[in-house]
Amino acid sequence: MLCLGIETTCDESALALLQDGRLLAEELASQVDMHALFGGVVPELASREHLRILTPLLDQLFARSGTGPEDLDCIAVARGPGLLGSILIGMALGKGLALSTDAPLIGVDHLRAHLLAPDLEQDIPFPALGLLISGGHTRIYLIRSPLEFELLGRTLDDAVGEAFDKTARLLNLPYPGGKHIDVLAGSAVPETTLFPCPYLDNANLDFSFSGLKTAVAQYVSSHPELKLERLDPEPDYDRIISQNKDLARVCASLNWSIARTLYQKTKRGLKARNGVRSLLVAGGVAANTMIRTTMQELAREHGLPLVLPSPELCTDNAAMIANYGFHLFSAGYRHGLDFDAVPRGRAMPFDYICTAGTPRE
Ligand code: KG4
Ligand code: ZN
Repeated sequence: MLCLGIETTCDESALALLQDGRLLAEELASQVDMHALFGGVVPELASREHLRILTPLLDQLFARSGTGPEDLDCIAVARGPGLLGSILIGMALGKGLALSTDAPLIGVDHLRAHLLAPDLEQDIPFPALGLLISGGHTRIYLIRSPLEFELLGRTLDDAVGEAFDKTARLLNLPYPGGKHIDVLAGSAVPETTLFPCPYLDNANLDFSFSGLKTAVAQYVSSHPELKLERLDPEPDYDRIISQNKDLARVCASLNWSIARTLYQKTKRGLKARNGVRSLLVAGGVAANTMIRTTMQELAREHGLPLVLPSPELCTDNAAMIANYGFHLFSAGYRHGLDFDAVPRGRAMPFDYICTAGTPRE
């Protein structure tokens, strides 16, 4: 069974082929360099770039894997949440291929695909408590099986990745800033009282990172010497660390506040749900060194295995889209050609056609 995955929800144009659930080939064209100097993704530029690159990327994928459109058994495309114009480019490719090959088509939820990404590398013990931390979303789910997700908590404002990216922007570090803050943080000891661990004084599993972002902004504006003189797309970390020691300390302190906040809320989630058999952490921010260590600690305290995707599977990729599509397809789910893209902020419909009875979420 050959399944094609298409991912264009943000600034990565990605395609992947799974053969019987295993990765056969993948192609990824990142737009990061283009957006880096703007301090964030410019939606119009992102969709134009997907449009320019996607067809040559598909030709390359087929050529390198020795396959062709006629070999496809199913086509999975990320339908959102994300940037509408960008998603539509990926969906147009998926729908066009489905129309010309008769291969069944499945629109998939990018967030659930992130959470199931580790499935490509290891068995996930279900039910799992899943923490999704990315550039646009911060959520906690109870995942009973690859097809049964219950949302337990979400951010009320900014996503955790935004707290990293917006801080990086204030400091003149390029977009996406999480990786740069992570590297700089590694060379300093965090000051644990410098920034708040936000929105913990409650009993719920929701998050709020806008206050932390403001606290960092106020600190940086009262310490203007922290800001780098110019935005270098490839920062020289050694030079920054030797010339601006406080910058690394601020990065480490922010990283600590975020990691502790995630730790506390996830711990609360584990307490509330008996019978969980693993802790799963996914999404771009799951590549963060301190968060990985903190979550390892939490899993150990609860005697649970920690399921973490390798760093390449944390950030946006098409293998995770093909993987979730393959699960849905195997359970009998399909879409017609008329399903919609879902922009960020709109609820994801569970509107599959089910060939094996009534669709069940
Ligand atoms: O999942 P993803 O690739 O895209 C979305 O679906 O949003 O996540 C991108 C986010 C960005 O905010 C980026 O700064 C963050 O992941 N990120 C990191 C690290 N690597 C990527 N944040 C903290 N530490 C990292 N090492
Ligand atoms: Zn993502």
